[in-house]
Amino acid sequence: MENKTTIISPSILSADFSNLNYELKKVEKSAAKWIHLDVMDGHFVPNITFGAPLIKCIRAKSNLFFDAHLMIENPQKFIESFAKASCDLINFHYEATTDETLDVIKQIRSFNKKVGISIKPQTDVKLIEKYFDKVDMVLIMTVEPGFSGQKFMESCVGKIDFVKKHSPRNMLIQVDGGINDKTARLAKKAGANVLVSGNFVFKADDLNFAVNSLL
Ligand code: DX5
Ligand code: ZN
Repeated sequence: MENKTTIISPSILSADFSNLNYELKKVEKSAAKWIHLDVMDGHFVPNITFGAPLIKCIRAKSNLFFDAHLMIENPQKFIESFAKASCDLINFHYEATTDETLDVIKQIRSFNKKVGISIKPQTDVKLIEKYFDKVDMVLIMTVEPGFSGQKFMESCVGKIDFVKKHSPRNMLIQVDGGINDKTARLAKKAGANVLVSGNFVFKADDLNFAVNSLL
């Protein structure tokens, strides 16, 4: 049976970049209401993807909820450009900030955007507990950020459970990396309510069927 409380956010990183409009339409016709935008700068992670100009172009083509995952150093320098590209949620990495974590949260809020904070697999979730009541979403990464198509790290599941137990009831708890129909069950059982999926949904013969199998 469909679980209406789970949000699926397909990661555009696994889509056909030569045909993004078509890929977005496929997502729009499915049960997924979000699109996950993996922004990488070649410094915070060992890969480069795309930035605000591309997001601005596809924004004009789609009404999906734009979920921007910034895997970049110095997020404070770029938040304005992602806000102006009309992302709905701006999600930065805790590890990319030092003393200014709270300022980054405030900066995102100042543009009236939803705020997400992410942690990599090796980062202790307790380090971000003090921000739980200041953000809309916590992202627990279940692969090392940088590439799609990696294997889900079960060792991170305990962190999902920690967020569930220590965060406000309406917290969005996102899990990203190696999500398929089997690992989705583990993530949801631990408390995840937003699942990112790249390869599993975009490389499937039937995206709609793949999305439904995650609900
Ligand atoms: C990895 C990205 C993920 C990735 C997910 O750094 O943040 O969003 O694209 O892809 P899959 O689902 O294939 O692991
Ligand atoms: Zn991501």
